[in-house]
Amino acid sequence: MTGDDPREERTEPRSDGGAAGADNEGSSTPRADGGTVDDIALDPWGSSSVSDYRKLFEEFGIEEFDEVLEEVPNPHYLMRRGVIFGHRDYRPVARALRNDEPAAVLSGFMPTGDPHIGHKLVFDEIIWHQQQGADAYALIADLEANSARGMSWAEIDEHARDYLLSLLALGFDPEEGELYRQSTNRELQDLAFELGADANFSEFQSIYGFDGETDVSHMQSVVTQMADILYPQLEEPKPTVIPVGPDQDPHVRLARDLAERMRFFKVSEAYASFELEPEERDLVVEFYERLEPADFDDDTLRCVHVAEALEETPLSKIDVAADVLSSVLTKLNEAGMEPIRPRTRFFDRRATDDAFDALIDAIDGEKRVYESHVDAFDIDLEAAEELAREVEVDNGGHGFQPPSSIYHRFMTGLTGGKMSSSIPASHISLLDDPEDGYDKVKAASTGGRETAEEHRELGGRADECPVYELYAYLLSGDDDEFAKRVYDECVGGERLCGDCKEQAAQLMQEFLEDHQEKREEVEELLEDADIELESPRRRE
Ligand code: TRP
Repeated sequence: MTGDDPREERTEPRSDGGAAGADNEGSSTPRADGGTVDDIALDPWGSSSVSDYRKLFEEFGIEEFDEVLEEVPNPHYLMRRGVIFGHRDYRPVARALRNDEPAAVLSGFMPTGDPHIGHKLVFDEIIWHQQQGADAYALIADLEANSARGMSWAEIDEHARDYLLSLLALGFDPEEGELYRQSTNRELQDLAFELGADANFSEFQSIYGFDGETDVSHMQSVVTQMADILYPQLEEPKPTVIPVGPDQDPHVRLARDLAERMRFFKVSEAYASFELEPEERDLVVEFYERLEPADFDDDTLRCVHVAEALEETPLSKIDVAADVLSSVLTKLNEAGMEPIRPRTRFFDRRATDDAFDALIDAIDGEKRVYESHVDAFDIDLEAAEELAREVEVDNGGHGFQPPSSIYHRFMTGLTGGKMSSSIPASHISLLDDPEDGYDKVKAASTGGRETAEEHRELGGRADECPVYELYAYLLSGDDDEFAKRVYDECVGGERLCGDCKEQAAQLMQEFLEDHQEKREEVEELLEDADIELESPRRRE
């Protein structure tokens, strides 16, 4: 940077840089507890609280985004840089985008304050999916803002407008996509009511910590969010992604669960007429594969044969709990001479009689019909899933696919700590006066060293720097080279904080000027869009 003549030779940081955070995994050092710690120098796009994110993978089963990155067509820079760090079941969405098949994206915003640069991440994620061909939905969570945050309808209207203008200014196409507010969407509320019949209070208690003091409207806002998440599939089931912060993961998990509970049929692999638990099934499969039908009387492997073989096997060679073993034996012995034969099972969960009959008719090849399931012998699992969904949809069901999610990192506040809407200096609002934006960046804390000398010698701590984050999350836009250069120069000691912040502050000012100009340009687009900007509930 100008005026910053580095005295030393530029030290090449050990970073492989790379446009993608895809390298993070390979560059992590294993820990005794089986987890990994990101090697800071090798992780240009990481943030300081990586250990917390690791916990999300281990405790909640969120998967690492890097592992699906390769399957994503034209990945967004937030994906490439590891800002989007996690996902649940994103593969079906990536596949649909690759193959130009139907897919959807939906996220929601609680209009409790000004939209800020943290919200921009979500706007960008929605818009990117829309540009990749997905049906895009953005909603104003006004019921939630009213019930969970006590916002008045007038306040909600004011902020909702600001969110929507920024979303459109950043490139959302309202003619292709759909905007709505929860409170005026009748179809949504019908779906919420329907889903509510499958959720109960003790579940809310354990997921959200609700108790006897929790008001009912707050609970209603939860079922409303469940309906939001499944709303894109009302027309037809399709892979749907919900881009959110990891704080919303409990909602995603519940929605995935409810989607499953609504299904008419459950499809599974089976080996005989009775039901087996997954562990029991694995055991039967193991023996089914090991035993030769030719070794038995009429060349047929029967339930009793597997039971006998199990009983003859020393316990030490059977890798299941004693109760699993004994229940498998009971089931096999009860079935006696029934042959063991692989098959695909359609279990009737909540189908109407007509739907169950329609399913039976629709199954080709050999089939066997029982009281509450049908076994098919000539259909594989995948074809069976498809058929079950088709029959369900044709007979008045939704056929929901479990919704997928992607998670982005939270931005660090400009003053260190959390970025929070309630601390103005910690964030930059998309409505901030561009000069204030400039000033906030100039006043931000950094990962710089105590003195310039020390900084040149040791290099800056870009991974712990809110200003570097601004470059990676926003200011570099699609330009990976630039983001990498800023990082390398910083950790290499040649980029000092003063100039770095000056550059960032100018870029921020330009971004805000440009964004606010675009907001004015899309005013008309918003007026024409199909969303009520004034709540009918306002009383004033
Ligand atoms: N609960 C979200 C928030 O606090 C807002 C929201 C409502 C939402 N419905 C949604 C987010 C559906 C994603 C998908 O900001």
